[in-house]
Amino acid sequence: MLRPEGWLLCEEGGQAVSLRQDFGAPSLQRRTQGGGLLRRAIGAGAGRPLEVLDATAGFGTDAYVLAAAGCQVTMCERHPIVATLLLDALHRAHTAGGKLATVAMRMSLRVCDACSVLPDTQFDVVYLDPMFPPRRKVALAKKLARSLWMLAGAGDVAQGGVLLALAQRSARQRVVVKRPPRAPPLPGTSPAHSLAGKLVRFDVYPRR
Ligand SMILES: C[S@@+](CC[C@H](N)C(=O)[O-])C[C@H]1O[C@@H](n2cnc3c(N)ncnc32)[C@H](O)[C@@H]1O
Repeated sequence: MLRPEGWLLCEEGGQAVSLRQDFGAPSLQRRTQGGGLLRRAIGAGAGRPLEVLDATAGFGTDAYVLAAAGCQVTMCERHPIVATLLLDALHRAHTAGGKLATVAMRMSLRVCDACSVLPDTQFDVVYLDPMFPPRRKVALAKKLARSLWMLAGAGDVAQGGVLLALAQRSARQRVVVKRPPRAPPLPGTSPAHSLAGKLVRFDVYPRR
């Protein structure tokens, strides 16, 4: 439902969850400072700005971090409600001006299944963050992640493998896949290396 304060997602018989991506949120702005794992995995910051396809954009949090690091980010999101919320956040970033608008200018959204885009286009890097089941204790601070799971559902590992194979053909430099720390890599070829943090792991597949 749409309220003056923004979109709310209501689980039947449950609590309403606010669904407002805010690229200006302090927690997200902190992620854009310093050398984060994601930026290292992508290889952002060295040389010319990278063209990145974020094939599973969700609410665009990772895409914003990459755009803030100077990447030109094309996002694909197939779920119409998630895509609407992402467009709303992009629009607010554009109208806010300043740094938010500058970063948002480097982000564009295609509302489609990435499987239909990947065979016909090339990017320096393809980034995949397929859905995976939420951890048992999902903190309130992670409510955006929780609502994504409610909308888009738990992912299918086999579908992730299909995306990986298509991404490897499209990427000029590398494919990066976000995984839970102890989950196996997506089915297909093994990653050349991984960067692991406490909450996530990035599997890196350089172009062969
Ligand atoms: C875990 S979320 C991504 C979260 C995102 N990295 C972020 O920072 O907000 C995965 C998203 O990918 C979308 N998705 C999954 N498979 C897709 C596909 N083949 N094409 C486009 N979107 C896809 C889902 O609808 C979901 O919104």
